[in-house]
Amino acid sequence: MRILGINAYHGNSSAAIVCDGRLVAAVEEERFNRVKYAAGFPAQAIRYCLAEAGIPIEEVDHIAIPRDPWARLGTKLLFALRMPRFARERAKVLARFTGIPVALAAALDLDPQRIRARFHRVEHHQAHLASTFFVSPFERAAVLSADGLGDFASTMWATGEGNRLRVHGAVAFPHSLGMYYTAVTQYLGFWKFGDEYKVMGLAAYGEPAYLDEFRRIVRTRAAAGFRLGLEYFVHHRTGPDMTWHEADKTPEIGRLFSDHMEKRLGSTRAGDEPVEQRHRNVAATMQARLEEVLFGLLRDLHKRTAQRALCLAGGVAFNCVANGKIFDCTPFEQVYVQPAAGDAGLAVGAALYVHHQVLGQPRSFVMEHAYWGPGYSPEQIRQALAHSRIAASGFAIAELPEEELAKAAAQEIAEGKILGWFQGRTEWGPRALGNRSIVADPRRPEMKRILNERIKHRETFRPFAPSVLEEATGEYFERAYPSPFMTLAYAVRPEKRAAIPAPTHVDGTGRLQTVSRAANPRYWRLIREFANLTGVPVVLNTSFNENEPIVCRPEEAIDCFLRTKMDVLVLGDTIVRKPASAAGGGLPAA
Ligand SMILES: [Fe+2]
Repeated sequence: MRILGINAYHGNSSAAIVCDGRLVAAVEEERFNRVKYAAGFPAQAIRYCLAEAGIPIEEVDHIAIPRDPWARLGTKLLFALRMPRFARERAKVLARFTGIPVALAAALDLDPQRIRARFHRVEHHQAHLASTFFVSPFERAAVLSADGLGDFASTMWATGEGNRLRVHGAVAFPHSLGMYYTAVTQYLGFWKFGDEYKVMGLAAYGEPAYLDEFRRIVRTRAAAGFRLGLEYFVHHRTGPDMTWHEADKTPEIGRLFSDHMEKRLGSTRAGDEPVEQRHRNVAATMQARLEEVLFGLLRDLHKRTAQRALCLAGGVAFNCVANGKIFDCTPFEQVYVQPAAGDAGLAVGAALYVHHQVLGQPRSFVMEHAYWGPGYSPEQIRQALAHSRIAASGFAIAELPEEELAKAAAQEIAEGKILGWFQGRTEWGPRALGNRSIVADPRRPEMKRILNERIKHRETFRPFAPSVLEEATGEYFERAYPSPFMTLAYAVRPEKRAAIPAPTHVDGTGRLQTVSRAANPRYWRLIREFANLTGVPVVLNTSFNENEPIVCRPEEAIDCFLRTKMDVLVLGDTIVRKPASAAGGGLPAA
């Protein structure tokens, strides 16, 4: 049984293929077309998934689309009557969705008649729920999905049991925790799609000074989860102004907050104005209120389901700061958030929804690692190097056996060099997890500044993340529960904060990746070699890119290495060292 999942015409468009209940491949279109958060039709992602599974489209039995135009039709019609522009947009989107078989045939350059698969439409949030529970290690769990908006809902909760999900409730448009977070993110002067992450980082610098006001912006209701104070927003009047149809564009979201928000919180910050303490406090209050509401939802969900385990999905599930507090603030004892918690994950969720919920097949798969994207053979890597400027540059190039390679790379990191680490298959989801990573020494307080100056150019308030050997997690962090996908943030033990200052955030937390030998033996070995040299089983891990989607092919890694001040590049078995004149140069011993 072959099921292709397609998340199209939505932010983070993606594809995934599930064969006999097991995920074989999953990837976002942005990794191919190099447009961050690309929407549109994921033609290249689909072609890759079919190639990885080794089958032509004719052999795909089912195609799952995480969008159901019939879901909440009454509410949609009601809003369409009030908002003609929104209704026109919706009609356009709907037309695109009915055209998916044609777009698919065009992407594969074949006659649509040759696609014999049955098409299924899966409601957005049911696909989110499926994307986490059906790949989790749990036989039973409470499941929550929360995001901006999908099929006119923003939140949905359920019980997962075996191969079944039972939905208990939902919150419909215009009430949305995702839109709340985006609206305040815009108010703070961050307008790009995906900027919520920045403001979550900023929140750690402020105090939740405006909680009374924010309790009016998001109101909690005993029986119905939460409601937005609509006077602070405009999306319920204008319709959510989102443009995410074109594959070659990053999605954009129009202004969501109203003049009332400005009146109550003070004037907005223009993108080029400095960030002041007031902005930090607004960010901190926004985060604190999100946590209050989210934990309230989760406590209710626990009461209703009496489960120990919780699975999360939807864009809100990327809030690793809130996720890390679930153990303390709710009765849940186990938490699972898969690496593509946002809309990219819908491709996997829709496919597994069809497999289990529609076709009744038993579960046989747990997502224990994130490496579901393209990988490249040693020969392809050699070719990429041979055809690059590296070959003629006089850089030192050596191909080494695995153990020597890990030792040599760890030595470079310990000497303060910035190392590009390209291995195996590309990560699924937005976090680099040791296959497309830039790795640096966590012991050096100046490393954050150096990475920003030389490569990343990010706002100074944004933290970098630590990767820790799974077995050493409890030694460095106040919680040892695994966080293999960087979706949980824990407090760094106070006595260890001075040991790993670079990836420790201003509030003493780290958005950690716990690395097990089973999930990524090569990356685990690199960190262990670093520990052997330095006594610290942690490295700083940031995504391998520079203002672009994470590199996917060896050629993109080489380009990024050459145009930035990265010192060393490890591509598969090959280590490339820049001469000091071309690199940023090493640093004095830590
Ligand atoms: Fe979503």
